[in-house]
Amino acid sequence: MADMDLKLRKVDIDFSDAKVHWNPDCPEFSHVFNAFSVGAPCIEPFLIKVMRQVNEQLPESASPRLRRDIELFNSQEGRHYRMHMKFNTVLHDAGYDTRESEAALKGDYKRFLDEKGLKFCLAYAEGFETLGPVLSGFFFDRSPALMERWDDASIFLWLWHVAEEYEHRHVVNSVYKLLYDDDYWYRLYGLAYCLGHLFHFVLRESNRMVKQDLATGRVKGRVRTRLRFGRSLAGLFAYAQPRIVFVAGRPSYDPAKLPPLTQAMFILDETSKRYGILEPT
Ligand SMILES: [Fe+2]
Ligand SMILES: [Fe+2]
Repeated sequence: MADMDLKLRKVDIDFSDAKVHWNPDCPEFSHVFNAFSVGAPCIEPFLIKVMRQVNEQLPESASPRLRRDIELFNSQEGRHYRMHMKFNTVLHDAGYDTRESEAALKGDYKRFLDEKGLKFCLAYAEGFETLGPVLSGFFFDRSPALMERWDDASIFLWLWHVAEEYEHRHVVNSVYKLLYDDDYWYRLYGLAYCLGHLFHFVLRESNRMVKQDLATGRVKGRVRTRLRFGRSLAGLFAYAQPRIVFVAGRPSYDPAKLPPLTQAMFILDETSKRYGILEPT
């Protein structure tokens, strides 16, 4: 499939004018994803370490294409988390102190790698990658106000990130199927574990940011703020839940078969034009 030719785009976003409240309609929606952004420099290096271990375990029969996809997957994730680290300094400069929770999340991933074994880590990574196409759909289909402002640094960070998540959606799934004979129930366990672990982090951190906005007067109106926060979370859950349960939760789930997303391809093309592509050696 043409859209699945992974590319390493040399993205380096200038966040000097970036906004913390980048969703013009809803500061609390921004915080739900700002919390994800805080988690990105923890989880994405974990994915890379897992895929490096996987590389050493691949059977001789693994195709050169899959090996190349793993390499490009790691390079894309490397760019993602470095750009999120850069954006996260905007959050720190605006007074949101996330260092402790970031360190705790990093500690969780270190423990997974040290103690829980490759099958668990890969199933967790597969669960996380299941979110990629779901979040892509959420941004591209359900958030038209953001698409209109796709060029704003903070919005672009997310649109580019989820578009590349869509592009590499098949990689971890293919590897999991190959190494663990498509163990369905364990894949569901990894998915459920990852979602529980990650959403707990996102809920706690976004709630902290929303509370801080109210305490500092950056956002006014406690009831309206809480309602908007609740609506943002409910909108995301309402979109994600059926797609996770009825699509990704099926034994036949194969992300490679999800159809290309026109708007994601638009963002990827624009990104390639603007930043250029690093050709594989
Ligand atoms: Fe990523
Ligand atoms: Fe990814």
